[in-house]
Amino acid sequence: MTDVINSVFQGRSLLREADFTPEEVQYFVDFGIHLKAMQKKGIPHKYLEGKNIALLFEKTSTRTRAAFTTSAIELGAHPEYLGKDDIQLGVKESIEDTAKVLGSMFDGIEFRGYKQADVEELSKFAGVPVWNGLTDEWHPTQMIADFMTVKEHFGHLKGITLSFVGDGRNNMANSLLVTGSMLGVNIHIVAPKELHPHQDVVDIAQKFAENSGAQILITDDIQAGVKGANVVYTDVWVSMGENGWDERVKLLKPYQVNMDMLKMTEMPDDELIFLHCLPAFHDTHTRQGAEIFAKYGISEMEVTDEVFRSKYAHQFEQAENRKHSIKAIMAATLGNLFIPSVPPMEN
Ligand code: CP
Ligand code: NVA
Repeated sequence: MTDVINSVFQGRSLLREADFTPEEVQYFVDFGIHLKAMQKKGIPHKYLEGKNIALLFEKTSTRTRAAFTTSAIELGAHPEYLGKDDIQLGVKESIEDTAKVLGSMFDGIEFRGYKQADVEELSKFAGVPVWNGLTDEWHPTQMIADFMTVKEHFGHLKGITLSFVGDGRNNMANSLLVTGSMLGVNIHIVAPKELHPHQDVVDIAQKFAENSGAQILITDDIQAGVKGANVVYTDVWVSMGENGWDERVKLLKPYQVNMDMLKMTEMPDDELIFLHCLPAFHDTHTRQGAEIFAKYGISEMEVTDEVFRSKYAHQFEQAENRKHSIKAIMAATLGNLFIPSVPPMEN
């Protein structure tokens, strides 16, 4: 097949959400829903036949790794996992040199790591699309799955209110704040003042919100922050690569998502869901969960087991959507598809 560029996406990297227009982000969401339907109906979609995909992981992963692997295979590509202890990256070889080597052999590269600057450097020198599978700052592929899940449930995005409760300055809070603002979803960041988002992230979000009409609220007041929420969303209190459990447990214990908090939304049952990017500490059935219980006496952290297993909980559909959304991102940016333009934002 010729490499004629018939797509506004072809050859582009997804490093952070703001690299794309709101319309393009909306397209990824809708394309993910479309590819999910194709997969469920058994309609072939091998848009990446014969391509090789490198999966670089400096941090651990279940969903992102599984989603990239299975969606690459379903698209007809060959995924190759390159873990941090398997390759020279960082120890004997720079990002620049690694990017040049991998870019000469692979058609696309996923990277999960610490610094945003690293994924940007990789993209600068690889010469092939690079997809950010999470850094300390952003988690863009997660966003497509999350807003897919919201759209599947409510039928639309504009006007929905999502309250993120927890560490308001981690990668998830940053990405939800910016992506929601792009898509016209009202975003409430509900966190203690010490963990409010950095101003530069709020500034990016505000700019998008001016166009989309999304309302942004940053507050430490739980009642005000969750009132009217259609989606209550949380994440771990301490992210990968961080320490400082003592401080976080103290700060975030009042922000645990429990049934009382869901009641504070004052929303009817059919207008409220709970989401979590996962993994979640909702019991002591993990080594870290057990350690935290031994040290602080808390058996559930950011979400109670009751909420996690309740009728409001949609985190496992959300997890499945990681696959369909990542498939959409890879197909659109690498599949030589005919996408000459993207539709305007939905009202
Ligand atoms: N949500 C998410 O990125 O999960 P993993 O860390 O398991 O990839
Ligand atoms: N904030 C979490 C997200 C995991 C998907 C972390 O970075 O560990």
